[in-house]
Amino acid sequence: MEDAYLVLDKLTKTYPNQPRSAVDNVDIDVAQGEFVSLLGPSGCGKTTTLRMIAGLITPTAGSIRVGGVDITNRQVHKRDMGMVFQSYALFPHMSVGQNVEFGLQMRRVAKSERRRRVAEALDMVHLTHLANRRVSQLSGGQAQRIALARALVIEPTVLLLDEPLSNLDAKLREELRVEIRRIQQETGITTVFVTHDQDEALAMSDRLVVMSEGRVEQVGEPWAVYETPKNRFVADFIGRTNLFDGRVVGREDGVLRLEVEGLGTLSVRARDADRTSVTVMVRPHRVQIEPVHRTVNEMKGRVVQSSYLGDVESVVIDVNGLRVAAERTHSGRPLTAGATVRIGWGDADAYVIPQ
Ligand SMILES: Nc1ncnc2c1ncn2[C@@H]1O[C@H](COP(=O)(O)OP(=O)(O)OP(=O)(O)O)[C@@H](O)[C@H]1O
Ligand SMILES: [Mg+2]
Repeated sequence: MEDAYLVLDKLTKTYPNQPRSAVDNVDIDVAQGEFVSLLGPSGCGKTTTLRMIAGLITPTAGSIRVGGVDITNRQVHKRDMGMVFQSYALFPHMSVGQNVEFGLQMRRVAKSERRRRVAEALDMVHLTHLANRRVSQLSGGQAQRIALARALVIEPTVLLLDEPLSNLDAKLREELRVEIRRIQQETGITTVFVTHDQDEALAMSDRLVVMSEGRVEQVGEPWAVYETPKNRFVADFIGRTNLFDGRVVGREDGVLRLEVEGLGTLSVRARDADRTSVTVMVRPHRVQIEPVHRTVNEMKGRVVQSSYLGDVESVVIDVNGLRVAAERTHSGRPLTAGATVRIGWGDADAYVIPQ
């Protein structure tokens, strides 16, 4: 990337006595002011990557640059990065205000300036009224807002967040998601956010970095990663999905004809036509139950399971022994197991996985 601000260049970490690298040749570019999420299953190397950026873990190989300057060997406190962890890591013996002020004291910022900036940071997270409160008297959500204020008050070069919402209940998580994104956009601070929660990553990020086993699988805008995953792993990890393996039996006008065992012959819009076998992705919300209009790919199945979730009904349908996940909205009374249904999707509702 031309205007990259934070650059990870072949970054690698191999812990002693480990068979494979926890982080393996990772290249990531983050533009100034961008919000990038590292997303992937437990153990894929997200925290290790973030801690190398922060300077808390020394890379085995590779380098880190910020604004064109190599900081790979720079000490933690000289990087001026802000960090927020899953465990709030506030100083328990200090008040809220003192916690936020701490980083400024360390940097020998003058008292009047400190006052002003602490007030500003507390205002940003809407917790001005708690300045004198003891940290032990905060709720989880409040503690995490204070942790955020403490990270931001030093006007960091980069903000690093490691699963900051994981200890909070679902409703609060969503609230803070919006809050963090608002603050990030207001301050324009370059942010790397670690999560294994795909909804969170989709909702908050300018771009996602999907990782698996220490490697980068795909980088892209949330919609692009969701709609056009590079490989099976990404398709499966981001969102619920149906993946069907098929044999190519025909191709014309940008439409592949595939033979999928159990489902019969399917049509999929795709440019790629070199291979004889492909994997096709169909997201559950693209599968229509009792389609109102005729669809290209139609079949009959039996409802195996239906989960009523309020806004959507999530249904699993058995088609000749193959499980197809579907979703419908405005469903009213949910389908009952054992019911026979017709399902279908258009040729543009499916996507051929490139790899
Ligand atoms: N200090 C260590 N010594 C040896 N191995 C480690 C150490 N820290 C982490 N690992 C290993 O490195 C790999 C990556 O760990 P890391 O904590 O970066 O994963 P993660 O993606 O943050 O996972 P999670 O979602 O569970 O937080 C894992 O296999 C882990 O067991
Ligand atoms: Mg982690």
